[in-house]
Amino acid sequence: MSNILVTGGCGFIGSHTTVSLLEAGYNVIVIDNLVNSSKKVLERIEKITKKNVKFYQEDLLDGKALNDIYEKEEITSVIHFAALKAVSESCEIPLVYFNNNITGTINLLKTMERNNVKSLVFSSSATVYGKPATVPISEDFPIAALTVSNPYGRTKIMIEDMLRDIYKADSTWNIALLRYFNPIGAHESGEIGENPNGIPNNLLPYVAKVAVGELECVNVYGDDYDTPDGTGVRDYIHVVDLAEGHIKALEKLKTNPGLVTYNLGTGTGYSVLEIIKNFEKACGKKIPYKIAERRKGDIDTCYANPEKARLELGFEAKRGIDKMCEDAWRWQSKNPKGYC
Ligand code: WQD
Repeated sequence: MSNILVTGGCGFIGSHTTVSLLEAGYNVIVIDNLVNSSKKVLERIEKITKKNVKFYQEDLLDGKALNDIYEKEEITSVIHFAALKAVSESCEIPLVYFNNNITGTINLLKTMERNNVKSLVFSSSATVYGKPATVPISEDFPIAALTVSNPYGRTKIMIEDMLRDIYKADSTWNIALLRYFNPIGAHESGEIGENPNGIPNNLLPYVAKVAVGELECVNVYGDDYDTPDGTGVRDYIHVVDLAEGHIKALEKLKTNPGLVTYNLGTGTGYSVLEIIKNFEKACGKKIPYKIAERRKGDIDTCYANPEKARLELGFEAKRGIDKMCEDAWRWQSKNPKGYC
């Protein structure tokens, strides 16, 4: 039986991936410091799957605690989500982001190596591409080390670079770098979903909070981009599709591929105004918005070429924008204040 250690397993993508792993017959051990998530998620995961999840409330910065877990558990592979990920916050406290995301990852990798567990799926991001010269974006596009506009995105590039160097030095590692585009939506049960602390940075949870009456009005950050309606275009992917992509990546690692890199996106872009319109359809309410100044660091358009994941992982996003908005609305309307 495969035992998968999921770091950050109480988070948005981590919790949905844990559900998919359990449903696919894996045993799951979650480690999470709960700094940006709730332990309540575990009850919800067990309610959905009728399976229990081993949980350790530990921090990746605590090397001893991490090693104790490896000694107690027979870990087969690791899926590494744990990270601070608020773009604007990372600009205010870069050192906290570098320590948490980079040092935490180094501790994890050292513990894996010491215990001879060399199978890793890493949660990377389309942010590593910076502002692409053209779209759709393929995996061989240049990494924008110089132009990525924030420390959060830079930690993703730095960790990818570390993993590429580790693999060059020791080809017995099997590593899948998964570059997510814009994950949104929720499990169709409405039991788990996106639950950002405070005012959401990202579009979809902000729109959902306006729909449920927690926030007044959506600020559309600029309508003068080089896009059909002037607002930013992104590749939104259902979080359950994304979770299923991780199962495909784990299966790929069993074939000893070495280090592999995949975009996880749909290949279709939607603008901010299109997202608002689709969400209005899902919730049956008008979503008030106003055009505001552009947000620093935003780019016009970003969407994936999903071909490589389709050909090499057999992964294809199945859920459309309607399902993404319907599932996000069900989660938000059932949990207006999140996991309170
Ligand atoms: C989407 C679009 C905004 C909020 C970020 C990170 C990325 C990943 C996903 C972690 C843009 C517009 C947004 C709002 C708006 N995160 N917008 N009003 O910036 O594409 O990606 O989140 O891994 O790494 O960079 O996502 O949802 O913040 O923005 O108009 O209140 O919505 O300008 O065009 P983004 P987003």
